Amino acid sequence: MGMTASYDMAAPRDDVTSIAVIHQALDLGMTLIDTADAYGPYTNERLVGEALSGGRRERAVLATKVGLVMGVSGPSYGPGASASPGAGRNGRPEHVRESIEGSLQRLRTDHVDLYQLHRVDPEVPIEETWGAMAETVAAGKALRIGLSEVSVEEIKRAQAVHPVTSVQSELSLWTRDALPEVLPYCKERGIAFLPFSPLGRGFLAGRFTSFDDLPQDDFRRQLPRFQQDALRANLAIVGRVREVADRVGATPAQIALAWVLAQGRDVVPIPGTKTPKYLLDNAGAADVVLSAADIADLDALPQPEGTRY
Ligand SMILES: NC(=O)c1ccc[n+]([C@@H]2O[C@H](COP(=O)([O-])OP(=O)(O)OC[C@H]3O[C@@H](n4cnc5c(N)ncnc54)[C@H](OP(=O)(O)O)[C@@H]3O)[C@@H](O)[C@H]2O)c1
Repeated sequence: MGMTASYDMAAPRDDVTSIAVIHQALDLGMTLIDTADAYGPYTNERLVGEALSGGRRERAVLATKVGLVMGVSGPSYGPGASASPGAGRNGRPEHVRESIEGSLQRLRTDHVDLYQLHRVDPEVPIEETWGAMAETVAAGKALRIGLSEVSVEEIKRAQAVHPVTSVQSELSLWTRDALPEVLPYCKERGIAFLPFSPLGRGFLAGRFTSFDDLPQDDFRRQLPRFQQDALRANLAIVGRVREVADRVGATPAQIALAWVLAQGRDVVPIPGTKTPKYLLDNAGAADVVLSAADIADLDALPQPEGTRY
């Protein structure tokens, strides 16, 4: 997402480096490449399509999303919130049917491995949206379908129509909403859980010490946890992550990812980066072994100041 949207929008886009990062990720053995038609919109899928052209498509588990539309108003990212005034939801079946065609064209492929509903549209019964997503499977345009930011109730309603392969939701050291209900339900049912923003949008990696560190036009400038006072209070969390990192001999980003990975074998985090050295750093998280004491320390981190959206 961050390669073409959301973060650091004032900086010139560096597609050459971004494509090199995607190639490097595949070479390091990372397989899940996650995008969405809403990122940009469309620019991110085009970039991923270019990166996977020329023989790399089969090495990736290619995942994209539908259901968030940029440039319209309405309930957007947050649960019923309008935190991002530029994004609205569209879960109408005809929108799904049209959108898959555009995604396949931009991604330069005849099928995606995972097609995800970015957000449930409160104005369309989930059964209708999910039925249209199931049609993409029947047509061979998507191998499997998944949900994003949903409740257990919504997963159950979708499952009654067609199997749910994955649920993508925010999960990290400072966002644990999925732990009590959604993640246990997914584990019980063999549904993969894909944590997004596992690095707390970079904050848990120790990237920011002040609101002024955030680039101009950066989406994080709108988020409650990144406002000056909240951000200052939240530095206590990063300090504690750093202590564990020093003890283990890892970086804070690796600790944040290792904690997410420790939540279960069916938990597949999606860290985002457009920076080669961060990608290597993040790949190293797979080799970090956290002791029970490390995990207990991380479990006991203070609650963040500020809501997610
Ligand atoms: N389903 C949804 O609604 C939803 C919502 C948000 C995100 N997502 C998905 O989740 C992916 C990741 O989420 P995200 O990008 O929001 O958050 P994230 O992975 O928590 O953090 C990304 C930020 O951390 C920085 N970073 C990455 N690795 C680092 C490291 N080792 N050290 C220091 N900084 C590091 C990145 O910098 P640079 O970019 O400058 O390298 C970027 O600013 C997205 O690409 C998207 O596919 C899905």
